[in-house]
Amino acid sequence: MMERIKSGIPGLDGILHGGFVKGTNILVSGGAGTGKTICCMQFLHAGANKYEQPGIFVTLEEKPREIRREAKQFGWDFEKLEQENKLIIIDAASSKAGLPTTEPYTLRRGFDISTLAQEIYKATKQIDAQRIAIDSLSGLGIRFESQTAIRNAIFKLASLLGELQTTSLMTSEITGKTGYSRYGVEEFISQGIIVLYLNEENGELRRSLVVRKLRFSSHSLKVYPIEIGSRGIVIMPGGEL
Ligand SMILES: Nc1ncnc2c1ncn2[C@@H]1O[C@H](COP(=O)(O)OP(=O)(O)OP(=O)(O)O)[C@@H](O)[C@H]1O
Ligand SMILES: [Mg+2]
Repeated sequence: MMERIKSGIPGLDGILHGGFVKGTNILVSGGAGTGKTICCMQFLHAGANKYEQPGIFVTLEEKPREIRREAKQFGWDFEKLEQENKLIIIDAASSKAGLPTTEPYTLRRGFDISTLAQEIYKATKQIDAQRIAIDSLSGLGIRFESQTAIRNAIFKLASLLGELQTTSLMTSEITGKTGYSRYGVEEFISQGIIVLYLNEENGELRRSLVVRKLRFSSHSLKVYPIEIGSRGIVIMPGGEL
């Protein structure tokens, strides 16, 4: 039996037939506002707060301040977890934008993928992190000149995560109808893909989730309705396991 890592999302571990397989890389794909960031926060909060598995949140788009504030809305006290060495937030957003930051974990000499990989490595060793979330891979794009450079960068990050033996979520925006990632490479280097949807049904938007791929494991192939409530994401009844 493979060791499983609990997702922290009520109902999801059943769909995953026990949780994420320890040491794998999961791509969380979806359009704007589908819940990708919340999914990452929930995964790390559960790990740190409930399962004694410290985590690293690498933010490429939002400032750590915003992440802490959003987490608080769901009752997840990130500041406390940071003080207890159960969580580190790496501010890659400021360096990517070329802005100064007072955050303790950041890329001081500017943004590049090797430095980012080093920071992730250091932080992981520092608190013995078992979980990592990278939000989002789409945010890597801005400073790279070619698609090849971006693909190499993502490949490098994924290899690092593989070495670290952490269980990782990487978010990505869906652009096309058939692809599950922006650069067309994330889906091949990840060992699992979860897709989040926000689709119109009878004049209103409905959220749903499907597990498209999960290497080393069986899983449900049903599309499940989900909701984002005061405690984060929950899977609603509707798809039987
Ligand atoms: N406290 C809350 N209660 C219920 N729903 C919320 C709450 N806070 C945010 N939401 C919902 O979650 C959505 C944002 O989720 P999230 O930031 O995880 O999306 P995302 O997929 O990361 O989006 P983006 O692509 O813009 O980064 C909001 O648009 C809103 O619909
Ligand atoms: Mg987001």
